[in-house]
Amino acid sequence: MSAAAEVLRAIRDVVGDAPVVGLHVPDISTVERQRVQECLDSTFVSSVGAFVTEFERGVAAFTGATGAVAVSSGTAALQVALELAGVRAGDDVLVPTLSFVATANAVVHAGAQPFFVDSDEETLGMSVESVASVLRDSRQSSDGLVNPATGRRIGAIVPMHTLGHPMRVEELLAVAAEHDIPVVEDAAESLGSFVGDRHTGTFGRLGILSFNGNKIVTTGGGGMILTSDDELARKARHRTTTAKVPHRWEFEHDEVAYNYRMPNINAALGVAQLDRLGAFLSSKRRLAARYRDRFSEMSGATFIEEPSGTRSNYWLCAVRVEGGRETLDDVLTATNDAGLMCRPFWNPLHEQSPYRHLAHAPVPVALALRDSVVCIPSSPALAS
Ligand SMILES: Cc1ncc(COP(=O)(O)O)c(C=O)c1O
Repeated sequence: MSAAAEVLRAIRDVVGDAPVVGLHVPDISTVERQRVQECLDSTFVSSVGAFVTEFERGVAAFTGATGAVAVSSGTAALQVALELAGVRAGDDVLVPTLSFVATANAVVHAGAQPFFVDSDEETLGMSVESVASVLRDSRQSSDGLVNPATGRRIGAIVPMHTLGHPMRVEELLAVAAEHDIPVVEDAAESLGSFVGDRHTGTFGRLGILSFNGNKIVTTGGGGMILTSDDELARKARHRTTTAKVPHRWEFEHDEVAYNYRMPNINAALGVAQLDRLGAFLSSKRRLAARYRDRFSEMSGATFIEEPSGTRSNYWLCAVRVEGGRETLDDVLTATNDAGLMCRPFWNPLHEQSPYRHLAHAPVPVALALRDSVVCIPSSPALAS
């Protein structure tokens, strides 16, 4: 049997014989419908309302961040987090080339430019060695550390917890601290993922989450800025709410800011989803265990495990196939033809048209991962 046929059979054995199986389908129950109805009945459907506060408190309690500011998307959250971390127009920001395009776009929205680095074979996240090598080659100026490849100051480092698997964030923090560069974690995919007992997104000066429709908890569209610095949390709330100076009726704004706050109607959905996060996480671990068992019988494809010392939310389960891009394409064709929504990694950002003109670090591991990893159906309902 071909590798593609074997992978197809293994997935089918785990997910059953439904004609179409999505990659990650949101699980919306009557509880979500009730909360959204309550919000509609209240008429407070926009960016002010009790559900926004309740959702922020719930996420803060779950993650352990003292500050959680709900916004309209993960991309908006990352842009504002970068600005608050001190990223300035014209800076470089170190970003893994293997990430969703939003990671780089947010850097550009903040006025800076991404400098892409390599990925880590085990965690799939940003390679600490690749970052360390860029920092080692950089020179100190009165303004900060300057990247010799671009002549720009390095304003921040943005690690990402790929598919929910925590990257080596503590080692990265140590390297960043040597050079006094802020870390802003892109934890868009990793709500429910921990390093030891600490939640991803709470290690850096700021972190962000996404609640897009394909994430483990959805608000339709939405994001969250996490920080345990009270002053940064206050600024994040202010800047994402048009910088309105609180007053009962006056419209006074003290900076050019954004209308990025999460609408109450989205937060109502989020409150209901957050209550079910524990159940989603359990289902995902069960699904991951079933895939692990089934793929352990196969040579030629390896189930991707959570990195040691971490607890992943297994947002997207994935396998690594041998045989290079041709085999990967065969697997994608066979599975998608059979109604199983499987997806490769993103095309690396340094090869995407808005970014291909930029200098970047050597990225051999990211390219090898791009040519071998396939994400497989991961909806919590598949193992509930
Ligand atoms: C790694 C990563 N960063 C950022 C984002 C952006 O989040 P959003 O779609 O909520 O803007 C996403 C997901 O969509 C993502 O997967």
